[in-house]
Amino acid sequence: MNTIQSQFVEKVLLGGKSLQKAEGSAFAPSNIALCKYWGKRDAGLNLPINSSLSISLGELGTHTKIRLREREDVVCLNGVQQADESGFVQRIKAFLDLFRPVLGSAFFEVRTQNNISTAAGLASSASGFAALVLALDNMAGWGLDRKQLSMLARLGSGSASRSVYEGFVQWNAGQLSDGTDSFAERLEIEWPELRVGIVEVSADQKPVGSRDGMNRTVATSELYKSWPDQARADLLSIRSAIEQLDFTLLGKTAERNALAMHATMLSAWPPLLYLQPDSVEQIHKVQRTRADGLEVYLTIDAGPNIKLLFLAENECEVCGAFPGIRVIRPFPQL
Ligand code: DP6
Repeated sequence: MNTIQSQFVEKVLLGGKSLQKAEGSAFAPSNIALCKYWGKRDAGLNLPINSSLSISLGELGTHTKIRLREREDVVCLNGVQQADESGFVQRIKAFLDLFRPVLGSAFFEVRTQNNISTAAGLASSASGFAALVLALDNMAGWGLDRKQLSMLARLGSGSASRSVYEGFVQWNAGQLSDGTDSFAERLEIEWPELRVGIVEVSADQKPVGSRDGMNRTVATSELYKSWPDQARADLLSIRSAIEQLDFTLLGKTAERNALAMHATMLSAWPPLLYLQPDSVEQIHKVQRTRADGLEVYLTIDAGPNIKLLFLAENECEVCGAFPGIRVIRPFPQL
């Protein structure tokens, strides 16, 4: 049991209402960071070195149902019960451990359903932990606000702190050592014309997960020293791009930010090369397409798949240039 985390949970839940139902359910969207979270200032409380900004992916994400049980936890993913010793189950159980004391040492059945293929690299821990926290709140009847939900989801996975909201979301790194000023907030700006396209390069599980990857980068990469300043500047540019609906500024800052993050990964030791030959091919293709006059930008997380950013007016042309992409409309259509 992680005592620092369980004390944090008690602090966040202080004054919450008592258990009301034996089951709960919730949905949380996936999100893609336009300014990436990369590096922790506190691993125990999962506090980031830099603030980040993301776009949630509308209806794409995770549906989770949770139920109390008398004996042992059961975890199902997409209708299939997962082996107890799998990393997925271990991580969920460790997270549930934080809530057992408040909920009377109960056991749980967790049924989680991702409506986007894991292969697309999006059915990540972000929507998973956010949906789990929302489902727990629904079951327990705590009536937590989004700030509290975001802080709890953060303990499961940093990027999950952003998945408790729709639309554009900023996760403020905060400065306090107790973690109470590190939570995400929604930016009240809609951009219905914005599109995200998924270019699937590989469905294989990545050899090094984001958590280990960022820890290794912080510990060993010389280039990482410049990352916090770069991320701070990029976040400001992306904020102002969103406020002015300036797509060119948004796209180029997001692309530069993602490639800068990959530069820090490459300079870690042992080096972290998440890109596959096909990822590099697609990066060149985006740059060629843009040089030919079609405004499309890219972002990449800690994996080989590429996410395109473009506007509705160019959707047909982008789909023609990148056959087989999955197009996501993050904002409800008018
Ligand atoms: C590259 O949120 O998965 O996707 O907090 O250790 O669970 P942990 O890491 P995680 O890292 C996400 C890294 C990223 C960038 C981002 O989503 O901001």
